Amino acid sequence: MIHRFENIASTNDEARRLSRAGAEAFTVVVADSQQAGRGRNGRLWVSPAGVGLYASVVLRPHVATEFLPSVTLLAGVAAAEAVMGCSGLPIMIKWPNDLLIYDRKVAGLLCEAELSASGDSVVIVGLGVNVNTSEALLPARTRFPATSLLIESGKHSDHEALLDAWIGRLRAWMTIFETQGVEPILAAWRQRDALTDRKLHVVLPNGEGLRGVGAGVAGDGSLLVKMDDGAVQSVIAGEVSLG
Ligand code: BTN
Repeated sequence: MIHRFENIASTNDEARRLSRAGAEAFTVVVADSQQAGRGRNGRLWVSPAGVGLYASVVLRPHVATEFLPSVTLLAGVAAAEAVMGCSGLPIMIKWPNDLLIYDRKVAGLLCEAELSASGDSVVIVGLGVNVNTSEALLPARTRFPATSLLIESGKHSDHEALLDAWIGRLRAWMTIFETQGVEPILAAWRQRDALTDRKLHVVLPNGEGLRGVGAGVAGDGSLLVKMDDGAVQSVIAGEVSLG
């Protein structure tokens, strides 16, 4: 079922409200604009009317809770495939799940997990894509340079086709996840990893900085960073920039 709004505070918040009221898996909330679109780490996701895709999906993964971080990777792979399929542009994933075109951010995902009243896992996956966004409407200052499908391709894209494609790929990947486990997701994710063999700067949640070279993603969804002394450090949470 798809719930459509002209304007809403945040599609993730509405999807969470619906999931708590018992909405089934793959219930979708989509809005033309958001008043208080949320990004990761408490940031704002600028959501001007009509030019972006702002959508959230309720997932109810039938996997042990220790595998829930993989849903973040799965949602990113599904979004990358959908955006690439609809635009023809090369899409890479920057850990944990920003979508990049030539190192500029075109989309971001916000995954929020919780346990339902009956103890089952629920993950709300929100996707924001700068679709037909002009340079003037992109946020002026971001941690990572921003772009849109319009800017990169010179063509307008159809939000609805993009949403359909994402839901289709999400359904396909959830089936693979529940039947074959995490390995196929990791393999697909690694093929699109924007950070492998690149010099990185990571700011950890405690404010500490880390410099090294991207060495892929681990089975638990953490980022692997190779340090100067050759040791590989696993990063569970942090903000990554290139250089
Ligand atoms: C990020 O890059 O920090 C994640 C951005 C996620 C934005 C989307 S837009 C639809 C959904 N609703 C929200 O409030 N946030 C997500």
